[in-house]
Amino acid sequence: MYLSKLQLYHFKNHSDQSLGFCNGINTITGANGIGKTNILDAVHYLANAKSYFNGIDSQIIQHNQAFFTIKGSFEGESPADILVQFESGKKTIKKNDKAYPRLLDHIGLIQTVFITPYDIELALGGSEERRKFIDLSLCQIDKSYLHNLSVYKKSLDQRNALLKNMQGRPIDPDLLDSFDAKLVPAGIQIHARRRDFVSKFTEYFIPIYQNLSQGSEIPNIHYDSQLNEGHFGDLLHSNQRMDTLAQRTGIGVHKDDLQFGLGEFPLKKFGSQGQIKSFIIALKLAQYKYFQSITNTNPILLLDDIFEKIDENRAQRLIEMVGESGYGQIIITDTHASRVETHFSGLLAEKMHHHLTN
Ligand SMILES: Nc1ncnc2c1ncn2[C@@H]1O[C@H](COP(=O)(O)OP(=O)(O)O)[C@@H](O)[C@H]1O
Ligand SMILES: [Mg+2]
Repeated sequence: MYLSKLQLYHFKNHSDQSLGFCNGINTITGANGIGKTNILDAVHYLANAKSYFNGIDSQIIQHNQAFFTIKGSFEGESPADILVQFESGKKTIKKNDKAYPRLLDHIGLIQTVFITPYDIELALGGSEERRKFIDLSLCQIDKSYLHNLSVYKKSLDQRNALLKNMQGRPIDPDLLDSFDAKLVPAGIQIHARRRDFVSKFTEYFIPIYQNLSQGSEIPNIHYDSQLNEGHFGDLLHSNQRMDTLAQRTGIGVHKDDLQFGLGEFPLKKFGSQGQIKSFIIALKLAQYKYFQSITNTNPILLLDDIFEKIDENRAQRLIEMVGESGYGQIIITDTHASRVETHFSGLLAEKMHHHLTN
């Protein structure tokens, strides 16, 4: 499926914006602050029922307005009009004018891969950034993962609320065990799915990284999880005293992380800026290939300010890669119209261009 039309009302800085897109290379140019990234975020929102950047929907409503809507018309095998509306703290999503009973039911219809300068946090930021990457990779293609994740989060919140309420006083172990009845099976399934994902994903990732970086170093990704060490239920049980004292749950997949390395060295400490950028772009392009392998369709590729931060050689290889026939719809932002124009002029794909002005 590809997005043929996008309409935004009161979405961040866009009070009323309408854009058409082709099933090829679309470029959006305009000055800094004009709202280019926000448009890509709206496309991400249409697929994932949330912003890539800001989980607080009330902050996405344009200042001094009461609601926002995002409308997207998708063409392809099964055309669909998707409408997202957020008003008075409530979010609704409609497909062809019919509201989904649950928001989660919508996720998975459309896949997006977003590459933005903010992704540097994947390499340099805390473990939650990398869990978010895994979750976004799996939620878009696996309903049961999405379900398990939601059960896990809810159960963990309840367990932590109990631990906090008790303020360090001893808790009946049977009571804690009963709380874990939902947490444990969900956690075990999330762990198994993440482990499987990392091993499959890495096969796509390594050649893409090597192509982008043109280096000889072999990148690696290691899935770090306490659940690699034993049965989740047993681990939780033996940690009960610690949890009681700490007043929160110290064991589980909410502590998972990914270790990124080049050869035997951690990327974060020893990677050059160029290597880190190649690593991140390769993670995203591998995510694209992973989605493609599972859905047999092309995700929508969102490239935010991609030429701003990478050197000419890497940019050229990226364009060669995404310009090959294996990619579908691409939406690219840049401050310089002439720059994107020269970069993409050689490609045969269908093209459409928008220039945003105040
Ligand atoms: N809720 C909101 N209401 C109004 N403006 C917003 C809101 N959220 C973000 N913005 C504005 O959006 C602008 C940034 O848009 P962005 O898409 O990042 O621009 P670009 O990518 O073109 O540089 C900023 O001026 C910011 O203040
Ligand atoms: Mg931007």
